[in-house]
Amino acid sequence: MATKHFDSENAPTVTREDLVELLNEDLAREYQAIISYVVYSQVLKGAQYMNIAAELEIHAGQELQHALMIAKQIDYLGGMPKVTPKPVKTSDKAEDMLRFDLENENETIRNYRLRVRQCEALSEYALAEQIRDILVQEQDHQIALATALGLEVPDVTKPQRR
Ligand SMILES: [Fe+2]
Ligand SMILES: [Fe+2]
Repeated sequence: MATKHFDSENAPTVTREDLVELLNEDLAREYQAIISYVVYSQVLKGAQYMNIAAELEIHAGQELQHALMIAKQIDYLGGMPKVTPKPVKTSDKAEDMLRFDLENENETIRNYRLRVRQCEALSEYALAEQIRDILVQEQDHQIALATALGLEVPDVTKPQRR
């Protein structure tokens, strides 16, 4: 029944309990990323996709590191890391797979940007710092996928009005 308060940037002020829940959502997205990169990196076919397939394999390992970091933070906050990934879409078309990955990375970046601010609002500066480190890699993933698809890097800041 608690009322949510909003700061000037429209970032909801969260409690530590809220933060545990939100980090568990992030963890479910990391599991989703691990699974999709494991599968897509192996099934992507076509000469033009060989470079990106090798890159996706590297992403898979990085997503595992992110999952470990997020699980550690959940434990630090006194929560229990959840075990269920967000659903992973499948397709036999290379372009679809890359597009699904790009959409997921966009969503992940949007969430982590907000999470940094939420952690800082709770004075959890070290946690915010770790999420910033993850963000750097997620943005690299986003750029690699957009480039492979021949797209501009999506501006995920747009939905948040200034
Ligand atoms: Fe990740
Ligand atoms: Fe990623």
